[in-house]
Amino acid sequence: VSTVAVVGSANLDLVVLTPTRPTAGETVLGENLSEHAGGKGLNQAMAAAGLVPTSFIGRHGDDDAGRLLRSILEKHNAGTTYFRPTETATGRAIVLVTPDGENSITVLPGANRQLSRDDVLDALDDLDPAIVLTQLECGLAPVTAAAQWTEANHKRFVVNASPVTDVPEAVLGAADPLIVNQLEAFHLSRHEAPVAAAIALGRQCHSVVITLGSQGALVLESDKLSQIPATQVTAVDTTGAGDAFAGVLAARLAASDRLTDAARLAGLAAATLIQRHRSHR
Ligand code: RIB
Repeated sequence: VSTVAVVGSANLDLVVLTPTRPTAGETVLGENLSEHAGGKGLNQAMAAAGLVPTSFIGRHGDDDAGRLLRSILEKHNAGTTYFRPTETATGRAIVLVTPDGENSITVLPGANRQLSRDDVLDALDDLDPAIVLTQLECGLAPVTAAAQWTEANHKRFVVNASPVTDVPEAVLGAADPLIVNQLEAFHLSRHEAPVAAAIALGRQCHSVVITLGSQGALVLESDKLSQIPATQVTAVDTTGAGDAFAGVLAARLAASDRLTDAARLAGLAAATLIQRHRSHR
């Protein structure tokens, strides 16, 4: 039985530590190259699987990268029955990390784009999770399918609108919560101030969480706005912080936490993660 099902992307991340982020036309000498399991969906699934029974629904290529991602998910106790091979190559991400811990990422979605509406509906019918968590890296068809399935089956839908794009009203209407950072909140609400953005998004979603990095998070639920403080840490690599936040939040909701409590623990998990480089997580 899966408590949480994560519908989403899995990538092999090629991570380069670089002293500075190259600007257009510039060449920079990097310091270290390493490969890691990634993808917003896979990262979220691994975070949730550490806390509650979790399955991953996604697509990988019939290649070494796909087999590696599958074995890593299994090592982290995430169900992989619906992490299926397809003819397109496994997704990849090129991740540049600078000494301030910030990153820039280019994703080559590959097999992730093959995840279909039917894949999602078939998997969810079989897994029957209490909570479905998704993000936008596989395109909108799987996300829309997941939203519709949760509404039809009276289950909870959690969506992390990242990487952000315009989201159908039906998806926002099912979100409980919608999780976004400040930039994503601005894209969806046109409000720069987090409180105004939360209030605007709260008119469309059941609940909203806006993550604010070192400023913590804002939670809006039943017209009540709460500020969640952050644990202050020194970041060496923020890659996957938002994914850990979403995965832990979904798992804690599955364990019946209130949204504000779940957001507090999710923030702690993200703060812990960013203090280590990927090779030491
Ligand atoms: O959120 C971090 C993730 O974004 C990376 O693992 C990369 O694969 C991209 O999906």
